[in-house]
Amino acid sequence: MKNTVDEINSVADANRKAVTNTIFSPRFYTTDFDAMDKLNIEPVRAEWDAMMAEYEGDNNHDHFQRDATFADEARDLAAKMSPELRQEFLDFLVSSLTSEFSGCVLYNEIKRNVTNPDIKQLMEYMARDESRHAGFINSSLKDYGLGIDLGDLKRTKKYTFFKPKYIFYATYLSEKIGYARYIRIFRQLEKHPEKRFHPIFRWFQRWCNDEFRHGESFALIMRANPNLLRGGNVLWIRFFLLAVYATMYVRDHTRPELKQAMGLEPTEYDFDVFRITNEITKQVFPILLDIDHPAFRANCDRLFACSQRAEEGMAAGGVLGYARKAFWSVAGAAVFARMFFIPVISNRLPDTARMVPAW
Ligand SMILES: [Fe+2]
Ligand SMILES: [Fe+2]
Repeated sequence: MKNTVDEINSVADANRKAVTNTIFSPRFYTTDFDAMDKLNIEPVRAEWDAMMAEYEGDNNHDHFQRDATFADEARDLAAKMSPELRQEFLDFLVSSLTSEFSGCVLYNEIKRNVTNPDIKQLMEYMARDESRHAGFINSSLKDYGLGIDLGDLKRTKKYTFFKPKYIFYATYLSEKIGYARYIRIFRQLEKHPEKRFHPIFRWFQRWCNDEFRHGESFALIMRANPNLLRGGNVLWIRFFLLAVYATMYVRDHTRPELKQAMGLEPTEYDFDVFRITNEITKQVFPILLDIDHPAFRANCDRLFACSQRAEEGMAAGGVLGYARKAFWSVAGAAVFARMFFIPVISNRLPDTARMVPAW
């Protein structure tokens, strides 16, 4: 398969990759802070207070420090990586860092701009966690001499405005799917330590428990405001579920080496992650995507094929290349629209929302 990941060969490449927005790369968000300030979480007060006590307990405060063997292990394993795997791994580090830092920036901005004590305190805890996550990834990039200038990224990357409800749907999903992705990788490498090609994966279990808890926070906010989960909003939930799942599928298939090096087959891995995420979202969403519908799987592949052809057009350049890119982008959008109309599974919400990370 053709490797379509843009190469990262210098610190300038790494920083450019982090700052550039494409439809598949992580973005930075801003929102309506007054509306955030008015959120009421009283209907879930008991669950909320229990969750805040967990944040305060901060059981990961000492987790994001490298141990004595980290640097040596990273260097020895890097020497054994194929150039393709190295590129995909660097791409993975840069996009993961961008997405962790995106959370950090958004949560910090909300914290600074609201007075609502519940929301302010939550955002402070989540920004604390994401800042540790981003810093931890950046230290691995620095091993390669490819550290990202986070201050510069914060100043120069474009921000996308999302209404609070879109922030809740999108961020809830990205936290939960982030958990599912990391735990699936951690379990695989636990069974096959010989396939662990970088020490960072040893940190994933406790790391993804932070992401799980971040997702819990948004689940409680939505459960406390059930109008977000009814009527026309169900169509938005459906849209965000599909957008998040489809983006992940295309990205993972664009960099198949990474999963293959871990002994994971990308399609199987993605469907495991969808399955875990579907299970988790039963805590809050009134519908689930039917990932076992034959049209769902077939269209995931079509979407990936369209994105490959669009990339090839882009790489070819010129008027003809541009036309090819435009054609396949429209074709991809049409596939996405067809997927939107695959029947969904309806879900009756449980009495209490909280879940434990049991995967
Ligand atoms: Fe994170
Ligand atoms: Fe998170």
